[in-house]
Parts: sequence; C-alpha cells; structure tokens
Amino acid sequence: MGLLAIASAKGSPGVTTSAMLFAALWPRPSILVECDPAGGDVALRMPGADGEPLDSNPGLLNLVAAGRKSLYADLVRQHTEKIVGGLDVLTGMTTPEQAAGLGQWNVLGALFAELPGTDTVVDLGRIGAETPQNAILASASAVVLVVDTVPSNVVHLRERLRRVSDGLGGEAGAPVHVVVVAPPKRSRAVAEIRDAIAQSQTPVEAVHHLAHDTTGAGFFLGQVVGSPARTALVRSAQPIVDALAARTAGAFVPADRGTATAADADVEVSS
Ligand SMILES: Nc1ncnc2c1ncn2[C@@H]1O[C@H](COP(=O)(O)OP(=O)(O)OP(=O)(O)O)[C@@H](O)[C@H]1O
Ligand SMILES: [Mg+2]
Repeated sequence: MGLLAIASAKGSPGVTTSAMLFAALWPRPSILVECDPAGGDVALRMPGADGEPLDSNPGLLNLVAAGRKSLYADLVRQHTEKIVGGLDVLTGMTTPEQAAGLGQWNVLGALFAELPGTDTVVDLGRIGAETPQNAILASASAVVLVVDTVPSNVVHLRERLRRVSDGLGGEAGAPVHVVVVAPPKRSRAVAEIRDAIAQSQTPVEAVHHLAHDTTGAGFFLGQVVGSPARTALVRSAQPIVDALAARTAGAFVPADRGTATAADADVEVSS
C-alpha cells in the first residue's frame, strides 16, 4: 500500500534498472509501475514469466482507458503482467505522445498508493518543473532520486531536490533518498556527493551507494546472468531496499485489513 517513487533529474543514471531491482528485492508484495512519459522499457527488455514477449499493448494506457469512469485496485491487477522471475509489472507507454494524452496522472498516484496488500514501485523517469508525472509524487511514501557521479548531473540533482522537497514529495512528508550509481570501489565519490547534498541543506534522509555493475544490470536488460543474486548490483541494492522498506512499513496495509473490494478502493475519475 506504500508507493516508492523512483526518478532522476538528468541523464539516464539507471532509474528503470533500479526500479526493477528494488521491486524484485522488495520484502513485501510489490508491483512495478512504469510511469515514465518518455516510454516504458520493461516490455522491450524482459520476457514474460512464460518466456514469451510481454503484451505489446501497454498496461498503463489500457488501465486508464478501461477505468475512464472509475479506476479501482482490481482493475490495476487485471492490467499487470508477470515477468521472468515473478515480478508483476504494469507496463508503461510506448511513445511520449501516449503520455501527452493520458490525462489522469492526478488520480493514478492515489490509486497506486492505495492498492491493498501490495506496495507499488513507480518508475517516474526524469522529472522536471512541469513533467506530468510530478502529480504522482504527492502520493509517494518515499521518493528516491537516482544519480550517477557526473558532476553536472549532481548539480542538477541538487536543484531538483530543492523543488521536490519544496512542493512535491517533501510537502506530503515523504522522505527523500538519493541513490548514487557508482563503481563499487568509488565509495569516496559517493561520500563527496553525500557532503555536497548535505551542504545544500535539502532534507535528504539518506544517500546510498548502488554498484555500477554491467553484469548485474544486464539481467534487467533481459540478458542471461549466472547468479543474479550474487552480483555486485544486487548485493549493494539489498541494504538500500531493506532501509526503504523499513521506512515505508507504516504505509503498508495487509490485504485483509485494506480496502478489500473494488468498490471500496474506487477512485473517482473526472471526465
Ligand atoms: N547499476 C548499474 N550498473 C551498470 N549499468 C547500469 C546500472 N543501472 C543502469 N545501467 C545501464 O545503464 C543504461 C540505462 O539504464 P536505465 O534504463 O535503467 O536508466 P534510466 O535512468 O531509466 O534511463 P532512461 O532515461 O532511458 O529512462 C542501461 O544500459 C542499463 O543497463
Ligand atoms: Mg528509464
């Protein structure tokens, strides 16, 4: 029932990879939702649990079309697909034009945050001042911004952190965490970024180090990887996931104590 929003400020530091990874390692039931207006990647990268390609019709777009009058939890479940490894995914749009016509961002966040018996990890892609998916941040239980170690990208991250904590995730009281993707031996670079963020006095709760690991990341491109759990990527992700899951535990409500019926979980949609 919690919503973990994952985004970047600039570049392509590994938001989608991190979102898939965190959802896969999440200790409570979880689904991954692709809300990057630039287009989803999971269906292009990963096969379904049966080894077949995923449905070419994006789940998010069909969900919004099917829920024109009302969007509810069971409808979300009906539009998810299981990918190899068992993760349930609501796949994103295939083109930015579809995102421009979506028009329901405001209700999607509330809907995803209220799914009984499951947490939701949402890939928001790159967020900026006017990006439509910003509306989803208001429903987040925690916000994660991913960055690499390129100095100009870190500058952009600090600017975005200010805005996020001013009016997006911050206003709703959601903790903001930063994930720095850096080679395992470059923890010094991560420490420098941690210091730079601390000096900018933005309310960031934690700055984590996620391993830059091409082998581990290859698994989330659909490549065959011997023991994914033993890769530097997964090993570095586990404590981050544990910290985020513990931090958002209060937002989770088991299915039997949640809004169990579709009608209860209904979100009104304005036409
Ligand atoms: N931790 C990592 N270690 C090594 N390579 C990574 C890591 N994370 C992502 N990558 C690689 O970087 C590329 C971009 O990753 P990804 O698609 O996750 O980034 P993104 O921020 O979602 O990008 P986009 O802006 O396209 O949505 C991919 O080739 C991916 O395999
Ligand atoms: Mg992405």
